Amino acid sequence: MATLVTGIGELTTNDDELGRMRDAALVLEGELVAWVGPAAEAPAADDAVDVGGRAVLPGWVDSHTHLVFAGDRTAEFEARMAGEPYAAGGIAATVAATREASDPELAATLDRLADEALRGGTTAIEVKTGYGLTIADEARSARIARGRADAVTFLGAHLVPEGADADGYVDLVAGEMLEAVAPLVDAVDVFCERGAFDEAQSRRVLEAAKERGLAMRVHGNQLGPGPGVRLAVELGALSVDHVAFLDDDEVALLADSWHGGRGTVATVLPACDLSTRMPLAPARRLLDAGAVVAIASNCNPGSSYTTSMAYCVATAVLQMGLSVEEAVRAATLGGAVALDRDAPRFDRHGQPLPPLGRLRPGARADLQVLDAPSATHLAYRPGVPLVHAVWRRGEAVLR
Ligand code: NIG
Repeated sequence: MATLVTGIGELTTNDDELGRMRDAALVLEGELVAWVGPAAEAPAADDAVDVGGRAVLPGWVDSHTHLVFAGDRTAEFEARMAGEPYAAGGIAATVAATREASDPELAATLDRLADEALRGGTTAIEVKTGYGLTIADEARSARIARGRADAVTFLGAHLVPEGADADGYVDLVAGEMLEAVAPLVDAVDVFCERGAFDEAQSRRVLEAAKERGLAMRVHGNQLGPGPGVRLAVELGALSVDHVAFLDDDEVALLADSWHGGRGTVATVLPACDLSTRMPLAPARRLLDAGAVVAIASNCNPGSSYTTSMAYCVATAVLQMGLSVEEAVRAATLGGAVALDRDAPRFDRHGQPLPPLGRLRPGARADLQVLDAPSATHLAYRPGVPLVHAVWRRGEAVLR
């Protein structure tokens, strides 16, 4: 079954050859994009949808979320807005609530937020564990995430659980806990920050992941300067996320990591920076230096309780100095690169995985139609729900 989407006023493809097109059309076949070109040259298809001159762009690829959790941290947010600083310790409250929750309760919260994200144009999502912090609770978080996410990341090294010895806990995370979750996850992450895990502890967790052939990610340089970025680049992590506190050498390190091969993506989390009243990550400096930047929501109940990638994109434009084109690319193709899904891959069972983040033949047919003539309206009309239609894996999920 092939569907022709025509009447596209402006098409963002993220493809170097196709670029940004006017009066375009595309054909979706199965879960893939089959054809992209001028509307006047569009081939016939079984079904046709005219989007009436609206803008079409790839669905958001949200490469950093923490959606397996229970509980509420409104009071912590209110205290922060009244002047309290954000601190890693708040994670413990969500850990306690998550351990108390049943599997169906956790899955229902994940589904509610993933559905909300989908209505907002997010067609691919990464979900982290990290609110269980026992072998059983991390394994069930990973299982629940697997039921919904495009990529699952093990974040047992999120916080040292209350009462535990830090080095003993790192032994557990890098040993038995990793062993239990490894078949369920695509990557391993560590919160490398004062108040969470130091450089040596973070290195142990990441090296254990690497030995098992799992991809690595780092939460780094979020609350102050630290070793996270250097460690991520040295070990070849797919991404280092937050990156609010970067010196010039770290910016250069991230840019240089792409010379001669795949490097480390700098993932900025604008909604988190605002919600924690921390400095905004230097996305402009990173792009100017030649780094690869992704924008993600970091949806979690503590530091960034939003699924809205459009809000993150508008913030990146209005407050971080990115152009709309750069911000849209970072929130689509940038996320795909951070997930190592910008090219065809195979899943853990050997099944092919089509690329994400671009609209070109062979890519996964994930797209959003804005109720606007151009993607510029994402920043020109911030806060306005502009999503008119969404296709995910070639299926209309909102139309
Ligand atoms: O990415 N920084 C660490 N982890 C999450 C926050 C989790 C929380 O506060 O519950 C983040 O911001």
